[in-house]
Amino acid sequence: MKYHILFVDDEPQVLQGLRRMLHSQSREWELHFTPGGKEALELMATTPMDVVVSDMRMPGMDGVQLLNEVKERFPKAARVALSGHMDERMIMGSTKVVHQYLSKPCSPETLISVLRRLLALRRYLAEEAIACLSSSLEHIPSLPKLYVAIQEELQSPRCSLKKIGEIISTDVGMSAKILQLVNSSFFGMYSKVTSPAQAVNLLGTETVKALVLHVQVFSQYDPKKCPHFSLARLSRHSLMTATLAKRICITENAPQDMQDDAFLAGILHDVGKLIFAVNCPDLYDEMLEMVMSENMSLPAVEQEVMGANHAQLGAYVLGLWGMSDPVLEAIAFHHRPRLSIVNQFLPMTALHAANALVVGIQPEGPVGRVEGPDLEYLDACGLGGQIVAWEEKARELFGMVDTETKPAEKMRK
Ligand SMILES: [Fe+2]
Ligand SMILES: [Fe+2]
Repeated sequence: MKYHILFVDDEPQVLQGLRRMLHSQSREWELHFTPGGKEALELMATTPMDVVVSDMRMPGMDGVQLLNEVKERFPKAARVALSGHMDERMIMGSTKVVHQYLSKPCSPETLISVLRRLLALRRYLAEEAIACLSSSLEHIPSLPKLYVAIQEELQSPRCSLKKIGEIISTDVGMSAKILQLVNSSFFGMYSKVTSPAQAVNLLGTETVKALVLHVQVFSQYDPKKCPHFSLARLSRHSLMTATLAKRICITENAPQDMQDDAFLAGILHDVGKLIFAVNCPDLYDEMLEMVMSENMSLPAVEQEVMGANHAQLGAYVLGLWGMSDPVLEAIAFHHRPRLSIVNQFLPMTALHAANALVVGIQPEGPVGRVEGPDLEYLDACGLGGQIVAWEEKARELFGMVDTETKPAEKMRK
């Protein structure tokens, strides 16, 4: 079955160029071209598209309006903005509707690799078993209001770090938990952080936003009915993985947005386990017990019994929250990055390696047999030689971690 990809642009020569550029893909992709939003929507009413790639500046219906309509009427289609220049208003308006931005001119390699990534992720998450499973679950974590408020503030032109700090301070319980986390050993602060505004200043808005999610997700449920599942252990594992994934990105000189995505993905990568434990405690408990006693792989057993593993389920649920593609991709493929079919350094690469390394270091880590980093995949990305340096970073970060004493306190001694 071929994928259907629609390109929308008012400049005929751009469409012509795209047609030529992507000709080599015609065995896998059915390409469609329309000169405007109106024609695009008419075509989509009869031919379902897997991806819509739209210019942003077009007469009549502009790219933001078109992609908004596509989101409403054809939510399954992935939405890509391909644009020469976007003004601030356009960027603001498009963040909620665009899965991926590309700037013109765009090389065939970049365009093909971006489209392949989008399609691989969607194919992986579109398996019917996950949709059936998630619609049968009663308790799905919700996106915290505070997170939404911060997100909205970040999009306001008058946004300031002080204001973000104030928004967090309005939720006293959340503030206390965030400060507890920030002052814990994971962040190795030299002096005590006393206010959310200070935390935002020191760690950056994206990291604090990810911590808001961490606190919310890990305090929303307490799966007591699943005794082999430890919420505290998972929370600790998630924080360690997130911290290391971000550090790996820094080591690889990855840009800030990749560092932030890797941290956020690390915080949430195993949320699927929590969803299983809360929704089917008895069955999941039996699975955990079996995995532990027989030293089996948990994702494999989940797949067998539930029809999907925690990585797929987590990414699927976070997709409903509107998380960005790189974050979803990292979570969906954190155990099997090869399935993503992309061989380049991504937040997914950092998360995969961080998860495997943390499992090796964390004595009371996740249950069952856990594979080490996929060296063949890392070699294919040209990163096979880096694993030693990354492991070193992990030891540097966590070598001194114990449950009683924080590094900051150790340093004072
Ligand atoms: Fe996992
Ligand atoms: Fe994990």
